[in-house]
Formats: sequence, structure tokens, C-alpha cells
Amino acid sequence: MILYINTVLPNFVEEKVKSISDFEVRENDVWVVGYPRSGMTWIQEIVYLVQTLDFEGSRSIDCDERIPYLEFPTSTLTDLSEKPSPRIIKTHLPLKLLPTQIQTIQPKMVYIARNPKDVVVSYFHLVSSIQSLTRYKGKLEDFVDSFLVDRVPYSPWSTHVLEFWEIKDQPNVLFLTYEDLQKDLEGSIRKVAAFLEKDLKNEDVQKIVKHCSFDEMKTNPSVNHQWLTDRQFQDPKKAEFLRKGKVGDWKNYLSKEQDDKLNVKIALKLKHCGLFFHYTE
Ligand code: A3P
Repeated sequence: MILYINTVLPNFVEEKVKSISDFEVRENDVWVVGYPRSGMTWIQEIVYLVQTLDFEGSRSIDCDERIPYLEFPTSTLTDLSEKPSPRIIKTHLPLKLLPTQIQTIQPKMVYIARNPKDVVVSYFHLVSSIQSLTRYKGKLEDFVDSFLVDRVPYSPWSTHVLEFWEIKDQPNVLFLTYEDLQKDLEGSIRKVAAFLEKDLKNEDVQKIVKHCSFDEMKTNPSVNHQWLTDRQFQDPKKAEFLRKGKVGDWKNYLSKEQDDKLNVKIALKLKHCGLFFHYTE
């Protein structure tokens, strides 16, 4: 991991992060941003379908091809700059590390946030399931401790979320939470459609709802990062990219002590900002 402008970044970002700042942004781009394990794959799929209604492509073309992951080595910035408009771009980078043109061009940006207790549990399962890639050998308690002191990739979580929370009222920003999506998927899809200025027919909205349900997405190979298993980075028996898809799964993993520590940290970081999360379904 590297520390860059007060952000912990995975090593693979090191080469790219400086050039990302000069990356050319287009007015009709849609940027999907969030801290890892916050429901990025879910919201990406919603954005893609609202934008394109390409249900077939959504099952047959890998999501990383449809929605390139800005800082990941599988997509180069040149490929991305040659991609025809309208582009949908995914990134876990915090607002301050996004291309500088984000501020001037102001493309549409959808930010997804999730309660940090489910984030940390989900994140631990992912990094330990792709150990040959992440080299992470710690236990859950180690990971929670690292999360608490902002030492896991893309941390600090609170800064990541709050930087976007502060600009949530800008017309080019839609701030959603994982818990919103769980509570009212149809309503959230309609919000995304209104934000992207897409006048969808009711039957299309219903198709997106069905397509983006946990069960449907779990059986959709294009969003399950099959290449991780194919290239033997992920043990197929150990964990899946789409794991449980619940609000409150943290209760099955975190001890009272860990919960208390997280509560203290959350209260400290989110005080007076008006952002609240749901921690149970
Ligand atoms: P869990 O590990 O708690 O199951 P990201 O895409 O940002 O990495 O986030 C992954 C988390 O979002 C995982 O959480 C995954 O199961 C959940 N997720 C993805 N698609 C979902 C869907 N359609 N419904 C509910 N949860 C979903």
C-alpha cells in the first residue's frame, strides 16, 4: 500500500494516480464512485441499464469492459480516453484524487456509501478470498483494527464519504446509500433515471428491478468478476464477489468490543454532518 495525499492506496494505483489527475473528462460521462464494498457493482449495473437498457450486454459483456475501473491495471487511461461517449467510469478514488477537470466539466457523478460495519466485514471477506492477489493473511480482528486506524486501501472511509456528502447538493451529484437501494430498489432506480434524465417506461423500470435483484445479479457472470476465479486469484469455495447482499450482516461477525470501537469512530467522524446510516434491515 502507499500513502498519497492522505489516502491509503493499493500498490497497483501508484503508477497511475498522477496521470489520472490530467485525465480528460467529458461532459456526458457518468462517474460511479464509492469506497470498496459499498455496493459499487450494484449501482454500476443500475446506472448501466438506466443509461443503455442493454439487458443482453449486461449479462454477456464483463462489467469491467462496459464500465472501466479507472485506476485498475486492466484498463489503461489511453483505452479509456479512446472509448466512445457516453462513458460510464467506475472508481474507488476519493474526490480529491479524481481528475482535476471533474471540477470544471462537472460530469454526472453517482456516489454510493454504505454503513461502515457492513463495509468492513464485506471488505475483509473480499481481501481474504483473493489472497493470492492481495497477500492479506490477517484475521477479521486484524482487518477491523486496520480499518479503525485508516490503514486499509482507499481509507480513510470517513473522508471518502464526507467529501462527497459535502457536494451532494450539486446538480451533477447523486448521493445514494446501499441501505437506500436495499429498502427501495425501484425508487432508487427511478432516482437514478431522473438524475440521468432518462424517461423510462414502467416496464423497463420493472425489468431493471428484476435484473438488479441480488439473486439475479449473483447468477450473472458478467458482474461476478469471474476472471478472479479463472485466473486462480479467488478460491471459488471461499467467497464470492456478491456474497450475502444484506444490511446488518456485520452482526454475525463483529464482537461487542469491535462494535463499540466502530461506534466511537463513526460518532466522532460523522458528528454534525447530518449523514446517518441504517445498520439493520
Ligand atoms: P456483501 O459482501 O455484504 O454481500 P462492491 O460492489 O462495492 O464491491 O460491493 C459489494 C457488496 O455489495 C457485497 O456485499 C455484495 O454482495 C453487495 N451487492 C452487490 N450487488 C448486490 C445486489 N444486487 N443486492 C444486494 N447486495 C449487492
